[in-house]
Amino acid sequence: MEADDLVEPPVEFRKQANISAPLRERFADEWPEVWAVAGDLLDWFDPYESVLNNETPPLEWFVGGRLNASYECLDRHLDKRKNHLALRWEGQLGETRRYTYLDLYREVNEFAAALRGLGVEEDDVVTLYMPVIPELVVAMLACARIGAPHNVVSAGFSTDALATRMNSANSQYLVTSDGYYHRGDAINQKRRADNVRLAIDPELKETVVVEHLGSTQLGTAQHDYHALIEEHAGANIDPVPRDSADQLFLMYTSGTTGEPKSVVHTTGGYLAHVAWTSHAVLDIKPEDTYWCSADIGWITGHSYVVYGPLALGTTTIMYEGTPDYPEKDRIWSIIEQNVVDVFYTTPTAIQAFMKWGEQYPASHDLSSLRLLGTVGKPIDPQAWTWYYKHVGRNSCPIIDTWWQTETGAILVSTLPGVDSMKPGSAGPPLPGIDTTIVQLDGTEQSSGETGLLAVRSPWPGMPKELTDATDWGSTAGAGDEWYYLAGDEAVVDDDGYIRMLGRVDDIITVSNRRIGTAEIESAIVGVEGAAEAAVVGIDHPTQDTAIYAYVSPEIRQTADEALNEAVITAVEETIGSVAVPDRVVFTPKLPKTRSGKIMRRLLEAVANDEDYGDTSALRNPEVVGELESSRDEDS
Ligand code: WTA
Repeated sequence: MEADDLVEPPVEFRKQANISAPLRERFADEWPEVWAVAGDLLDWFDPYESVLNNETPPLEWFVGGRLNASYECLDRHLDKRKNHLALRWEGQLGETRRYTYLDLYREVNEFAAALRGLGVEEDDVVTLYMPVIPELVVAMLACARIGAPHNVVSAGFSTDALATRMNSANSQYLVTSDGYYHRGDAINQKRRADNVRLAIDPELKETVVVEHLGSTQLGTAQHDYHALIEEHAGANIDPVPRDSADQLFLMYTSGTTGEPKSVVHTTGGYLAHVAWTSHAVLDIKPEDTYWCSADIGWITGHSYVVYGPLALGTTTIMYEGTPDYPEKDRIWSIIEQNVVDVFYTTPTAIQAFMKWGEQYPASHDLSSLRLLGTVGKPIDPQAWTWYYKHVGRNSCPIIDTWWQTETGAILVSTLPGVDSMKPGSAGPPLPGIDTTIVQLDGTEQSSGETGLLAVRSPWPGMPKELTDATDWGSTAGAGDEWYYLAGDEAVVDDDGYIRMLGRVDDIITVSNRRIGTAEIESAIVGVEGAAEAAVVGIDHPTQDTAIYAYVSPEIRQTADEALNEAVITAVEETIGSVAVPDRVVFTPKLPKTRSGKIMRRLLEAVANDEDYGDTSALRNPEVVGELESSRDEDS
């Protein structure tokens, strides 16, 4: 299929879709009625007085409403669905664990009691540094139950990265695990967690360790998760009513500076937005088995492995491992065994599936699938078509969902039972969302013209940084009108469909993880002998983005194997293995503009052997030849 082909949702799908064409039309006319409908998906302890206050700052969603996210995801389902599966966990080595809503409710209450017993109070930040195991979901919901914001740090991060996030969040409680399996190898996580004690200020008060691999030695102020659960067996903790605008969690993501950026999500607005999009876009029904393959340590896992599906009372799958272990059919075998209805993954994963070959999905019965989704980066029409044909058997709609850590939930996507699909285009903004394309100075672009994607209306999942700001985030210089600039380049066609073209800032996506090049650079220049560094993401149509680090050594420092090693170790220790460069290229100088800015686009062009574009602003044009020869030497 080509980029401009229209693909209609299958009739069978339309008939059962949560959002029908008449509903979509109603929403189009009556904004913000759609957000009242989203709010109605939740059970509020105190009802809200109005959907939105955007008259006087702070901006507020579901004003006056009080609720508890753990109650929304657990208690309210018990009457009708206590024996329904909430979680199906698939371990890397083939083990499985199942939790009904009642099982999950009980363990969450017990762990909430344990956290309280350790001294955690409302609004204390609890850091969760754990692999994708059920105890992570228990810990998230236990925190939510007692009104303690969680701060999940992905298991792949280093001690330093964990320490930076705990310090910045002023977090004195840590829940971690002894370790986990990665491609069959046991990874010791506890050692990294133990070292954090030395690296943080304020003091780390208490640590809970989930024994996942086997036995582990506990130190002072360290507690065994399972012993705590036993100690608090049968406990019942009343869910703490939280204001709609109260913090549910914070998480760190990469911005454009060398420091990770914190994003704080609210209880009411965020939860209503993820529940609504899980219903309207992912088309989740309570009786479905639903699988989002994202790591819970990233926003996609928070919104669409945990909060969205559990708020709707469905069964959510968690998978600990990697897609090609032990074999390249692992994903398809999990779908077949669990009879999955809705599958949500990333273009990067789909590209890998394509490369491995269609024989892997073909060797499994995937006929249970009803809907497919993607998120994370633009999907090219070729990968789209492969996914449609070889996974969806030409009979599942595909939703290409655009959103970000900052947006909390999906903002742009087709509605799968209503809208035609266009391979390669995410689709129109969702009902209730107003987007436009602007130039840097704020001038609006017409259809067909490339520019920056801007969100013009507030949305319930917006983070506190935006609701609390008096000027509502980044304005693009357009007078009084505010908009949120997402950092993505995009173009809109005559039908209002948005084609995403990638980031315009220095953020790259590698293995579905968002990484700021500045963070890697600051780790590299910390190495003795490394004077300057520029990191770029090199995109390839059929492979994951590769990280290239261009490093200029200090005078008298030789660019040898030892320096190369030191660069790699520094990145691994400061951030984690996910950010380690695929290539370190030493160069005497980096290409700079006359104003001293590194010309990254030139580095990308040289690496890709592409047209360099306009290089007249270059102060040191001789660098180009040096870069070319180091490329040619290496290849
Ligand atoms: C990119 C992940 C094109 C985009 C949920 C965005 C996409 C960044 C899409 C956010 C999509 C996400 N099409 N690009 N469907 N979805 N992106 O914060 O560049 O990890 O700004 O959130 O991913 O990454 P983040």
